Amino acid sequence: MASSIEPVTTLALTSKDPARLDVDVLGVLVASAPSGPVLVGADALPDPLLSHVAAQARALGVTGELDSVHRLAAQQTTASVLALVGIGDRTLDALDHEALRRAAGALTREVTGVASIGLVFPADDVAHLAAVAEGALLGAYTFARYRTPPEHTRPAERIELVTPRAKEAAAKQAVARAAVIAEAVHAVRDLVNTGPGDLYPEAFAELARAGAKGTKLKVTVLDEKALAAGGYGGLVAVGQGSSRPPRLVKLTWSPSKAKRSVALVGKGITFDSGGLSIKPAKAMETMKLDMAGAAAVLHTMFAVAALDLPVKVTGWLCLAENMPSGTAQRPSDVITQRGGKTVEVLNTDAEGRLVLADGLVAACEEKPDAVIDVATLTGAQMVALGSRVSAVMGTEDMREAVVAAAGASGEQFWPMPLPADLRASMKSQVADIANMGERNGGMLVAGLFLSEFVGETPWAHLDIAGPSFNEGSAWGYTPKGGTGVAVRTLLNLLEA
Ligand code: BES
Ligand code: MN
Ligand code: ZN
Repeated sequence: MASSIEPVTTLALTSKDPARLDVDVLGVLVASAPSGPVLVGADALPDPLLSHVAAQARALGVTGELDSVHRLAAQQTTASVLALVGIGDRTLDALDHEALRRAAGALTREVTGVASIGLVFPADDVAHLAAVAEGALLGAYTFARYRTPPEHTRPAERIELVTPRAKEAAAKQAVARAAVIAEAVHAVRDLVNTGPGDLYPEAFAELARAGAKGTKLKVTVLDEKALAAGGYGGLVAVGQGSSRPPRLVKLTWSPSKAKRSVALVGKGITFDSGGLSIKPAKAMETMKLDMAGAAAVLHTMFAVAALDLPVKVTGWLCLAENMPSGTAQRPSDVITQRGGKTVEVLNTDAEGRLVLADGLVAACEEKPDAVIDVATLTGAQMVALGSRVSAVMGTEDMREAVVAAAGASGEQFWPMPLPADLRASMKSQVADIANMGERNGGMLVAGLFLSEFVGETPWAHLDIAGPSFNEGSAWGYTPKGGTGVAVRTLLNLLEA
């Protein structure tokens, strides 16, 4: 049964003695040293407990292996359980912010079915405690839309992070920011995990409207009639095979103090069957993920409003369902994108670039200082970079800015080229361009297609096909299913 109450985890700072913390479980880091497992940064715990763990670690099965979590009975602490999170062979000094996020996330993801967790982590300065807080909240996720999660799988409701800086304003502000980020990432995961029967373009647009209520975000929605009238040929063509018509949603955040403006454009294919160029059944199984870019843009916009960022941001959600039917577009149809360029649609499964082209043109008409699109655009992205590293293409400055923002946020984005020679493979006999080109380098071909629709605007294209959805096991703060990737990078970029 669907649960009506979404579990929400709250995190607070404390400077109390961890031994006296009123929590169910105390979380601690453990490294694997040549001599055996060693606790890291846990000096504040009572000596008898530390020596007990040190002496017994091997017998208790504690290895310190990266991402491993062991629970054991605690002694001389209010908490009755100690949870040890492995950080591999790292020393305390070698723990970067992302390692802290992942360790904190592995802990809260694994230690479920308890009410409260205390974190005895390296958190002496604000940057460290921010990373621990963010990771802990990111890991405390469960998807509860379609069933009540069993008790033992529910994330803790309350997390207390021990730090000498608990009373400082900057520390509290860092925790507030972490909560906003985690809420946004969780919301993206929820949208990606939602069945495509429940999340179609109109429903998605309604979520944008509902979420913007009570904020200073302005929302406008173009329906299928407005899209046809406005010349949005890509959205119309991709959406015309579905009984559930396409939408283009625009969200505007326009603070009076803003000096610069950024446009974000998200691919929102609520289900990608491939259309008449239909996918094999196996390849369709995960295609509810194909709106992950639009979901990331939507919740980045909500986070921008929550953090009251002093930059103008517009978010464009290109929403359509790609279905085969008697009204679907056909391979060899020629469409006219917003702005007038014609495209020969040789493969209806290369639909993302068609809806994004309309979104990019519309976004660039308003002359933003930069435009960034986010899309689960190509299977070739996964061939090139695997399922944990996203690709970024575009104009040089923007591409490098995205790489830097990703690095600071703990997400992995790798720069990729847009070789001009590949343009020839998209030549059409009848139109300005075809929506397909050479198979090799398919991710770059798709990026090059999009580059034709941004004019002179500084631009970055984020292909998150693999990283948007975790088909493997959970790791660090990343659950199975929707991951919420790109939100943190985008926010970092907008803050910088
Ligand atoms: N949504 C897919 C890309 C995708 C594939 C995302 C696997 C996540 C996992 C996209 O619309 C698509 O089908 N792309 C085609 C393009 C091709 C027909 C030129 C692809 O990658 O095969
Ligand atoms: Mn497709
Ligand atoms: Zn697609």
